[in-house]
Amino acid sequence: MKNLDFKNCPLILAPMAGVTDVGFRNIASNFGADATVTEMLSARAMAHNPTKTGFMTLTTDAEKFKIAQIFGHEEDYMEKAIKSPLLSNFDSFDINMGCPAPKIVKNGEGSALMDDLSLASKIISTCKSATDKPVSVKFRKGHKTENFLEFARMCEESGADFVTFHARTVAQGYSGNADYEAIAKVKANLKIPVIGNGDVVDLKSFEQMKATGVDGVMIGRGSLGQPWIFAKLKKLDVQVDKFQQVCRHIEILRKHFEESWLKLYIRKHLLWYTKDLPMSSDLRLKLATCDDIDDCLSLLNDAFDKA
Ligand SMILES: Cc1cc2nc3c(=O)[nH]c(=O)nc-3n(C[C@H](O)[C@H](O)[C@H](O)COP(=O)(O)O)c2cc1C
Repeated sequence: MKNLDFKNCPLILAPMAGVTDVGFRNIASNFGADATVTEMLSARAMAHNPTKTGFMTLTTDAEKFKIAQIFGHEEDYMEKAIKSPLLSNFDSFDINMGCPAPKIVKNGEGSALMDDLSLASKIISTCKSATDKPVSVKFRKGHKTENFLEFARMCEESGADFVTFHARTVAQGYSGNADYEAIAKVKANLKIPVIGNGDVVDLKSFEQMKATGVDGVMIGRGSLGQPWIFAKLKKLDVQVDKFQQVCRHIEILRKHFEESWLKLYIRKHLLWYTKDLPMSSDLRLKLATCDDIDDCLSLLNDAFDKA
């Protein structure tokens, strides 16, 4: 059994629904991510429609510490998910108790669990009993009230091996700044490792996050279009051939997915990968409406060459 090594402040690629696919996680891992998290997986969907979830659970050997993130509010489904053969390849399980999306919250899942500490605690201890592997919890500052400290303590008492704290309230969504003082407070009050999350996009914000004393740092939006950000933050001496990495991302996805699905899915990634390139509005429109991936790639090759 593997454990996440917290000695050197590991960098973790955040779970991002519709973003952190197997190709994206592969590139982040090749460029220094010490751990990677799947997009959130519904415990119920895993039980009733495993093929729908299956593509989100693909992994490659490049991933150093593979975390599957599960959401749900029913202990029995959470237990089944942890024991599901779909997740047998993972090193660790994270429970989503921070998702602010209304369709999740209205089912009593994600951040809604921050309002029900007793149920949240039962879910954590059920998940812990279902596996020998580490179990973590990802949460926010609070849903109806800012109860992050009480919530963090509950996670620890219920058996969580580590926690990830995105220091924004549910009402904030992604607006305003992540509250690094709140992160420092959680770190100071727990014995288990605390991973800090929110607004790390460059060396300056990385240092500010580390100054809270956290044991690890999770990066989400700062990796969009640049899953190699981990190498930059670790000051690794690597050259990134961006075009080659875009091709690699697509090549990995092509092994698993139909072209008709992929050409729609990949559009957002193509726009993120090229957001800093000087490109004509014509080319940007072509990427945004990508109808032929190879066509887009040859246009991109030129654009990256000229940059
Ligand atoms: C497109 C997108 C999808 C996300 N999906 C998830 C998810 O599936 N599970 C989760 O716990 N958080 C999810 N998040 C939240 C991120 O994991 C992270 O907590 C948040 O973006 C703050 O970190 P950042 O400032 O580094 O982006 C998502 C965020 C974005 C932008």
